[in-house]
Amino acid sequence: MKDLLSMNQLTNEMIYDLLDKTHRMKKGEFPSLKGTFAANLFLEPSTRTKQSFYVAEKRLQMEVLDIEAEQSSILKGETLYDSVRTLEALGADVLTIRQSERGALKEIASRTKASIINAGDGTGEHPTQSLLDLYTIYEEFGTFENIIVTIAGDIKHSRVARSNAYALEQLGATVQFSAPDAWREKDGTYVTMQEAVETSDVVMLLRIQKERHQNQTPMDSYLETYGLTKQRASLMKPGAIIMHPAPVNRGVEIDSDLVECSRSRIFEQMNNGVYMRMAIIQTLMEGKHYENHKRIQMERGLCATV
Ligand code: CP
Repeated sequence: MKDLLSMNQLTNEMIYDLLDKTHRMKKGEFPSLKGTFAANLFLEPSTRTKQSFYVAEKRLQMEVLDIEAEQSSILKGETLYDSVRTLEALGADVLTIRQSERGALKEIASRTKASIINAGDGTGEHPTQSLLDLYTIYEEFGTFENIIVTIAGDIKHSRVARSNAYALEQLGATVQFSAPDAWREKDGTYVTMQEAVETSDVVMLLRIQKERHQNQTPMDSYLETYGLTKQRASLMKPGAIIMHPAPVNRGVEIDSDLVECSRSRIFEQMNNGVYMRMAIIQTLMEGKHYENHKRIQMERGLCATV
């Protein structure tokens, strides 16, 4: 694997390999990627993803090129493709990119030798968030089989919901959703928040993505009607956990007191994100060496296909 663009490119075997690598990273078994370069290009706002990639890359002893959108030549009309090719020409081995156009990285990745990581493409996908969420669930329950996950909130505009629903079902979990009518996707089983808390092992809340809404967002009494209140949290099953990719809007989708309650894994998700991103980078660097080896073999006429 050279790039990580979507969860649907990962088999269960590949996901379990990443979970295992993350576990080893979390125990402090860090490989060294000294002498390699990572470039982080974030054209939409980010705190967690951007900074956890930075920490992950530094822990792997990589050199890091951190590109600020406001200071980049994209503002002067350079295309994203030309910016990526530029960073590759400067020596970047791995490029982590957040940008707003769904699916835009596929074409770019096919035209570069550097590894491309999708750090969120508009309403498309957020595979590294999904993988750290999977790790957090696996760390808690040791399995995905028979685990019921409710993803609640702004499903329609959430790349996290899309990536997680796909991967969790592939791994054997049951996924259901809870959302106001306006933010539902046409597929999927929808339940009320009352039903969600009573049946779920994981209640995964989502932020309302106002920046992606065409019409004004109805926020009045959202918490009471659709969110996780303290009263609802008191009905959760023994051992059930609360997750949220963050940023959290306290008092909107979740009562502020629940963000750091004993059921919450929200900050543990962020901590796990560093180790999962280390595992992803290590895996892509191994994959890139293999792809390069195959390409060189083909160029020398030693194998028929790449
Ligand atoms: N969860 C997540 O993607 O957070 P950021 O937008 O802060 O990166």
